Amino acid sequence: MVITVTMNPAMDKTLVLDGFTLGEVNRVVLGRNDIGGKGINVSKVLKEFGEDSLALGFLGGILEEVFLKELKTMGIGQRFVPVKGSTRTNIKVVDRVKGTFTDINEPGPVIQEEELTEFLRLYRETVTSGDVVVLSGGVSEGIPVKIYRLLTEIAKEKGALVALDAEGELFREALEAKPDMVKPNDRELALYLGKEHLTEDEIVDAAKELVAKGISKVLVSRGEKGSILATAEGILKAEGLKVLVKSTVGAGDSMVAAIIYSVLKGYGPRETLAMAQAAGAAAVMTEGTKACTLQEVESLLQAATEKIKEEKR
Ligand SMILES: Nc1ncnc2c1ncn2[C@@H]1O[C@H](COP(=O)(O)OP(=O)(O)OP(=O)(O)O)[C@@H](O)[C@H]1O
Ligand SMILES: [Mg+2]
Repeated sequence: MVITVTMNPAMDKTLVLDGFTLGEVNRVVLGRNDIGGKGINVSKVLKEFGEDSLALGFLGGILEEVFLKELKTMGIGQRFVPVKGSTRTNIKVVDRVKGTFTDINEPGPVIQEEELTEFLRLYRETVTSGDVVVLSGGVSEGIPVKIYRLLTEIAKEKGALVALDAEGELFREALEAKPDMVKPNDRELALYLGKEHLTEDEIVDAAKELVAKGISKVLVSRGEKGSILATAEGILKAEGLKVLVKSTVGAGDSMVAAIIYSVLKGYGPRETLAMAQAAGAAAVMTEGTKACTLQEVESLLQAATEKIKEEKR
C-alpha cells in the first residue's frame, strides 16, 4: 500500500478575478476549493494514475468533515488524527487581467503533544513491510523538525520504502535516516548545501553524494530546466519540456506521484525520469490545483524520453 503523510493539510481556495484592487470590494469571477497539502496532492495524482493510497495526518475544525467526505468521494483511504486546532485554508488570488498570482497562507493548527503521540501510534500501527511511505510538505507548530527522520526510521524498521519531499531542517534531519527516494528542487538542494545557487555540475555532484550516502533515488527538479536523476546506475539528465504553462502549482507533487508510480510498476531509472518529467509538465499545463491525468502524462512520455541524456563523466 502507498501511504501519504500530510502533517499540515490545507483547503486550497482559488479565487479568479478580472482585476484585483487592494482595499476595495473585489468580485470573484471563478472560485474553487480543493483539499490539499502535499501528501494529499500526491494521493490525488496517484488516484488519477489508477493507484490507491492511504492518507495520514492531522485534521481539525470545521474543515475536518469536508476533507474526510472529499477523500471518500475521491476513493482515497484515510486515517487522520483529529486535533483541537483548525485545519487551514490557503487562498490563491489569480488576477486574469494583471496576470498576477497572490498566495495568502495560514499557518495551520498548533499540534498538542498528545495529538502527536496519537499520530505516531497510528503510523506505527499502519505502516507494514512492502509499503511505500510518502513524507511530503511542511509541518505546523508543535511538530519537531526531526519528525520525518523519526517517520523514516520507523518505516525502514518495518521494511517499507520512504519517499521524502521536504525542505530546510525537515529535509536535513530526514536525510540522516536515509530515505529511499528524495525529490528536492534545485533551491532546496542549494539551501541544504548552504549555497545560494547551484550549477548543473554542482547538482550532479550533490546528487551523487546523496546516492553514496545510501539514498537510492535522488531526483532534483529544476522547474522549466527539467530535472536530474541520480541512482547507483549513474546520472540521467532530462531537459525541460516546452509546454504552455497554466499554473506551476502541484508540479513537484505530480513528480513525486510519478516516482511512486514508477516504483509500483518496477520501472528502471530512464522510465522513471521520463514519467516524472512528463508528470511535471502535465501538471504545469493543468489549471490551478487540479491533478493531472494519466492520459495527459502518457501523451508527453515520448517527448520526455527523447530529452533524456546520460551523464558521462
Ligand atoms: N515552467 C515549466 N515548464 C515546463 N515544465 C515545468 C515548468 N515548471 C515545472 N515544470 C516541471 O515540473 C517539475 C517540477 O517543478 P519544480 O522543479 O518547480 O518543482 P517544485 O519546486 O518542487 O514544485 P512545487 O512548488 O510543486 O513543490 C520540473 O522538473 C518540470 O518537469
Ligand atoms: Mg516541491
